[in-house]
Amino acid sequence: MKIFETVSSTREHIHALTDKHKRIGFVPTMGALHEGHLSLVSRAAIENDNVVVSIFVNPIQFNNPDDLEKYPRDLEADVRLLQPYLKDDDIIFAPSPAEMYPRPETHQYDFGTLANVMEGRFRPGHFNGVGVVVNKLFRIVEPQTAYFGEKDFQQLAIIKCLTVIEELPVQIIPCEIVREPDGLAMSSRNVRLTTDYRSIAPMIYQAISHAAANIDLGTPLELKKIIAKTLNRTGLEVEYVEFADETSLQPVKRWNESDNIRCFIAVQAGEIRLIDNVKCPKQFGR
Ligand code: PAF
Repeated sequence: MKIFETVSSTREHIHALTDKHKRIGFVPTMGALHEGHLSLVSRAAIENDNVVVSIFVNPIQFNNPDDLEKYPRDLEADVRLLQPYLKDDDIIFAPSPAEMYPRPETHQYDFGTLANVMEGRFRPGHFNGVGVVVNKLFRIVEPQTAYFGEKDFQQLAIIKCLTVIEELPVQIIPCEIVREPDGLAMSSRNVRLTTDYRSIAPMIYQAISHAAANIDLGTPLELKKIIAKTLNRTGLEVEYVEFADETSLQPVKRWNESDNIRCFIAVQAGEIRLIDNVKCPKQFGR
């Protein structure tokens, strides 16, 4: 595999591949790779001729400066992890902030109501920063397909919307959440959990999957209250818990408002913010 730090060298190598009509699969990441990322890379390698992985901690998508500063970074470890999945002419693109942002970024996207709820409400500016960087990356890599994990389910919806706004011919492939054996959704932030918070963090998935499988127990509002109460009792702090339509991401008040409902949650585990989501199984006659 080749590792490039500049846009021009990356473009040059990609053009050499596309001149040979190679199909490019792209996996954008912020590094601190784990099995969740590797499952995306492995799928991209199966479904394309070549894979490009970007590793860039995007400063403009962090609404919390402390989170940006403490975000885990270890390029050497990431390269080692990627090695078994990448061929000689596959690419790791690891630019610096100055390379990605030679000028201050001012672009403002309008993602409509997709960006007003959940992560959009609690992390102002976050999705604009994601949109700006993913648009730049897509224009550098020009992939046929790009792979994103469903843990950031709202981000996936925003990126699909971005490809429509920017008229980008890239197919967005959602990939299922990869979990630790105890159910905790894999995240680069998990390594920063204290031992105590790491031991109670699996309750997030337990609480939302139990509620999603038992929606006959109450209304969305009632189940949200039960989830929040259960988790807050453990020492986790629920920021939001929401039952929402998978496409519009708008919260539902009644189970029959949508055929495709997901339960979304964000929790503060000490200093670390964790998110997760789970699909509610379809129940007939609800
Ligand atoms: O999901 C992430 O890791 C980031 O938000 C992304 C898509 C790489 C953009 O910086």
